[in-house]
Amino acid sequence: MNIIIVTTPNSNLKETGFGSLQSCGHVMASITEAGHTCSLNLCRTKYDLELVVKRKPDLVVLGVKYMLIEMEENIWLSDFFSSHGINFSGSLKDVLQFDSDKVSAKVQVNKDNIKTSKYFTALPGEYRNESLLPFSFPLFLKPGDAANGNGVDDFSYVSNFKDFESKVLSLHNLYKQPVLVEEYMGGKEFTVAIIEDANCDLIVSAIEIVPPVSANGIRILGAKTKNDNSEVLMKILDISLIKKVKEIAVNAFKSLGVRDFGRFDIKLNDNNDCCFMEANLVPGMTAATSYFPRAFNIDLGMSYDQVIKLIIGQGIRRVPVKLPIPPALSLLT
Ligand SMILES: Nc1ncnc2c1ncn2[C@@H]1O[C@H](COP(=O)(O)OP(=O)(O)O)[C@@H](O)[C@H]1O
Ligand SMILES: [Mg+2]
Repeated sequence: MNIIIVTTPNSNLKETGFGSLQSCGHVMASITEAGHTCSLNLCRTKYDLELVVKRKPDLVVLGVKYMLIEMEENIWLSDFFSSHGINFSGSLKDVLQFDSDKVSAKVQVNKDNIKTSKYFTALPGEYRNESLLPFSFPLFLKPGDAANGNGVDDFSYVSNFKDFESKVLSLHNLYKQPVLVEEYMGGKEFTVAIIEDANCDLIVSAIEIVPPVSANGIRILGAKTKNDNSEVLMKILDISLIKKVKEIAVNAFKSLGVRDFGRFDIKLNDNNDCCFMEANLVPGMTAATSYFPRAFNIDLGMSYDQVIKLIIGQGIRRVPVKLPIPPALSLLT
């Protein structure tokens, strides 16, 4: 197969997809190792994307969701390639929106009775005092549309109205969006990586993530912890917990209509209920550190090459079979 990996300059974005150019290089090496012809394209403009279309690849592997264009609307790569009739990896744009907009993902999974924390959104000054808040402290505040722990730090955990107002203001100043306010969940944290393989079977791997204890005594996966790689990734030993965590992720995969692969963050609340937190539909693919390949390695003993081979399985399955031209017709061409 002729496969092109497409990524964009993304080091300054609040959502990064597969990761750096080097991480996309790891993906390319594994696809090549699987016997395909594969190249990596760093696209900066719409013209660069058009050049990819001209090469008529069998499959484009998307390393990011969209390309930022100054003063214009983002170009969603899934939309761009589908409108040009090019087969691409991962979910369609409407589904990828669930990754970018955490509230919309919660609304969707709640419809299918998948539990999430209670939540509301807040703008600076919207709530005049503590008694007007939809529910009470402790609360957890984060941007509704960022990833990689961006905007998540020790001040995300809030136990009084003054701290609430100040974190709402700082997140709103940074992200210019209503701030997502959730009930604080103090239990264990998990991530579940799922691939739909070429046979349409779901391969599911789950791990526990243990961030270091922060200054205020809680464990959260903020940007600093993620950048420092100071969290510990562990096999889940409790069989009934593995079952519950995997079940909620598989249900979320189906509820959101995810295609090919995705990673789901899950946390236990203070009653030990498993709650869906968010979906990562173009998850990090850095070989040594990203949760997606690490989960498959820790839970199922799979190598990075095996994981990458699997994530393109459905994409390859979508390539139309090229029938050989009958000899009589081939004379005419
Ligand atoms: N409601 C919550 N209660 C406690 N911790 C939370 C809550 N929501 C998020 N966190 C912590 O913040 C981290 C980042 O939140 P998440 O929604 O997964 O955003 P990101 O897209 O940045 O990964 C989580 O991995 C978890 O450690
Ligand atoms: Mg997360």
